[in-house]
Amino acid sequence: MPADRDCSPPETRGRTLDHAASVYDLLAPVMTLGLEGRYRRRTIELLRLVGTERVLDIGCGTGILTRQIAARLDGSCREQVIGIDAAAKMIAVARRKAAGIVNVHFKTAVAETLPFAEARFDAAASTFFYHHIDMDLKKRSLAELRRVLKPGGRAVIVDVDTPTNLLGRLCAWSGYWLFRQEEIRENIEGRLRESLYDAGFSRVEKVSHHAGHISIFYLEN
Ligand SMILES: C[S@@+](CC[C@H](N)C(=O)[O-])C[C@H]1O[C@@H](n2cnc3c(N)ncnc32)[C@H](O)[C@@H]1O
Repeated sequence: MPADRDCSPPETRGRTLDHAASVYDLLAPVMTLGLEGRYRRRTIELLRLVGTERVLDIGCGTGILTRQIAARLDGSCREQVIGIDAAAKMIAVARRKAAGIVNVHFKTAVAETLPFAEARFDAAASTFFYHHIDMDLKKRSLAELRRVLKPGGRAVIVDVDTPTNLLGRLCAWSGYWLFRQEEIRENIEGRLRESLYDAGFSRVEKVSHHAGHISIFYLEN
C-alpha cells in the first residue's frame, strides 16, 4: 500500500484550491446556482449506504458531503468514511468542521495515486472534482477508483457534462472562459463521460442532468 501522504503536500497537475479553502463554503452555492445541497442528497440516495460500510469521498474539499455520508452510517471506526483532497488547506478546514465526528477521517492525497489498498471501500463519491484534472489524470484517477472499490462496489460522480440548453451552455462555457480551464472544456466536450464508459466499470449510468450542464453518474465495479 502506498505511504500516507499527509506528511508532505502531494504533487499533482490538478487544480488545487488551497487559496480558496477559507471561502469555499460561501462561494460553492453561487457556483452551483444553489443546487449543491440537492446534488449531495441525490448522491447519498444513489449510494444506498448501509451499516458499517466504508466510503471514500474524492476531492472532498471542506468535507460537507463526507460528513453527511458518515451521518448515514453506524460505524465507530475512525477510517470508515475518508475524504481525500490534494489541497492541504481544504483538508485542514474539513478536519476542523468534522471535530468530534468519530467515523470520519480526512487525508491530504491525490486521486491519481490513492494511498489505499485494493478493494478497501464499499462505495465512493466525487462531486465537482473531475473538472479540476486533465484527461490523463481523469483516466488515472478512475483506474484508482476501480482499484480501491470492492467488486460490486458503487460510486457516484457529479460534474460538468455536455450542455443541453442555453442556461447550461452559459454556465459551462463561462466557467471555461473565466478560468481558462481546459479541464472544463474536456467535460463540456463529453470526454469525462467517455472516460467513465471506458474505465472498465461493470455498470455506468447517467442518472440525471441538471441546470443544463451538470450530470450525475452511477457506477458499479
Ligand atoms: C470544486 S472542489 C470540489 C469540492 C467538493 N467535492 C464539493 O463538491 O464541494 C475540487 C477539489 O478538488 C481538489 N483537487 C484538485 N486536484 C486534485 C487531485 N489531483 N486529487 C485530489 N484532489 C484534487 C481541489 O483542491 C478542490 O478542493
